[in-house]
Amino acid sequence: MSELSTRARAGFTERFTREPAGVWRAPGRVNLIGEHTDYNDGFVFPFAIDRSTVVALAPREDRIIQVTTAYTDDIVRIGLDEVTPAALAGWSAYPLGVVWALGEFGADLTAVPGFDAHIDSDVPIGAGLSSSAAIECAVSVALTEVWGLGLDRQTLARVGQLAENKAVGAPTGIMDQSASLLGMKDAAVFLDCRSLDAEVIPLGFEAAGLVLLVINTHVSHAHATGGYADRRASCERGAREMGVSSLRDLDVDDLDRAARTLDDVTFRRIRHILTENQRVLDTVRTLRLEGPEAIGALLTASHLSMRDDFEISVPELDLAVDTALAAGAIGARMTGGGFGGAAIALVRVAELSAVSDAVLAAFAAQNFTTPDLFTVTAADGASGAD
Ligand code: GLA
Repeated sequence: MSELSTRARAGFTERFTREPAGVWRAPGRVNLIGEHTDYNDGFVFPFAIDRSTVVALAPREDRIIQVTTAYTDDIVRIGLDEVTPAALAGWSAYPLGVVWALGEFGADLTAVPGFDAHIDSDVPIGAGLSSSAAIECAVSVALTEVWGLGLDRQTLARVGQLAENKAVGAPTGIMDQSASLLGMKDAAVFLDCRSLDAEVIPLGFEAAGLVLLVINTHVSHAHATGGYADRRASCERGAREMGVSSLRDLDVDDLDRAARTLDDVTFRRIRHILTENQRVLDTVRTLRLEGPEAIGALLTASHLSMRDDFEISVPELDLAVDTALAAGAIGARMTGGGFGGAAIALVRVAELSAVSDAVLAAFAAQNFTTPDLFTVTAADGASGAD
């Protein structure tokens, strides 16, 4: 049992004075490439990381739900019949939103018992590593097992997304939950967000002597507000004006027509999505044919597209990317929704400390908050009780 599971068990026992029925785990994710393409029915290529959220849970005899976390002292208590998006607020909207969303996907919530649950995690919050999807997925795999729901992982990804969209109020896509549920060790998930067909593709970073460095800028982002929703609206407007139901129905060959049809800002938003879809396909092909060393330029091109066309980067992320590249990274980009969070850099093991030192020095020179630097590896997706 992992240290985190042991801690979650102890936290559960301390709060509820009994043993949990089990501890379920779901990881955060890094998106290697394919940003803001998921809600445009496009392609993404994320992987589950070796940092997870765990939930220790046990069913109750009545229909009460009680949820606690390692980060707060509150016990959130609610009856199963009262769980609706409107009734939820704060951190508990993530786990309780999943309860509601399971009902929307066919679980008979009138026939299941309440439960006590305690949540703990080592996914940094607000870093763009999908700490929220990790909570949703840990809770959904736990309840699927405890309640005997028999829902498959593709469905659980949609459950998590629905909870995030309606209970938390963030208009996000399906990528994060898919990575958390479908990821596999040393591999990334090539997901077609239209069909939800997923293919797990070996990354081979370790064999190639590469590591993936995460640079958490500590610039906070909130997807329930502002820029993310605005970008999504631009994409929908662009699709409408181009006469398609989703940007997936266009590709880079449509860019000339898009330039003639759309205003400059909408055109650049759309250009990011169409070129990013192409970069995901190119990354998967390049990885297969030439190995991971060869994907660096595509990662960096993705960052430039987000910086210049989609305009979701911030100075800290640009500095992280530029400095990592100048210090020898073979590719670097911001990862996740943008407006803050983390950048990733693909780095040769031998150059890891040079790249890390350079990034720390550059941030200090700009008087930016000291970033957190750590490497992640591609890990297995959510797992059952231990
Ligand atoms: C956030 C969302 C995802 C996705 C990314 C951007 O992580 O949760 O659904 O849209 O931003 O690629």
